[in-house]
Amino acid sequence: MTRRRGMALAAGLVAAALAMASASAHDVVATAPADDAAASLIDEGGALFLTHCARCHGEGAEGGIGPRLVGNARLARPDRVATQILRGSIYMPSFATRLDDHEIAAIATFVLNLGSNDFGIVSEADVAALR
Ligand code: HEC
Repeated sequence: MTRRRGMALAAGLVAAALAMASASAHDVVATAPADDAAASLIDEGGALFLTHCARCHGEGAEGGIGPRLVGNARLARPDRVATQILRGSIYMPSFATRLDDHEIAAIATFVLNLGSNDFGIVSEADVAALR
């Protein structure tokens, strides 16, 4: 093998290793934005989701009585998701008096980043402004 070919092979192995590393990073359910504050909101939101939302939307948000939330393009507007949680709708209850601004921000941010969703962040201040 020539020196050139050896280098190309080494570069290929590095690329394959990088591809494997990024594939395993995608195994997590919610893909956390780089920001640490957002990552901790998402963690907290995941636990709150199981308590308050999973019975209708499913433990993996795959849908049930309520619509599927993972891979749902209608959720591309963070203010709309926060408003839905605050007000509820026909069959969905309102969480305005049951959850505080921080908890609603956490659940909304969790939902916005669930699976392939990549729709941003809702802050506590955003929720306060929408009330
Ligand atoms: C009692 C069942 C129930 C519970 C509990 C519930 N939902 Fe819903 N949700 C629904 C239904 C049903 C809809 C569809 C709109 C309607 O008919 O009210 C919906 C709609 C939504 C939507 C809009 C989806 C879209 O495609 O437009 C979002 C976002 C949502 N729910 C999030 C949540 C979150 C987050 C929680 C927990 C805080 C939650 N829901 C709790 C039943 C529920």
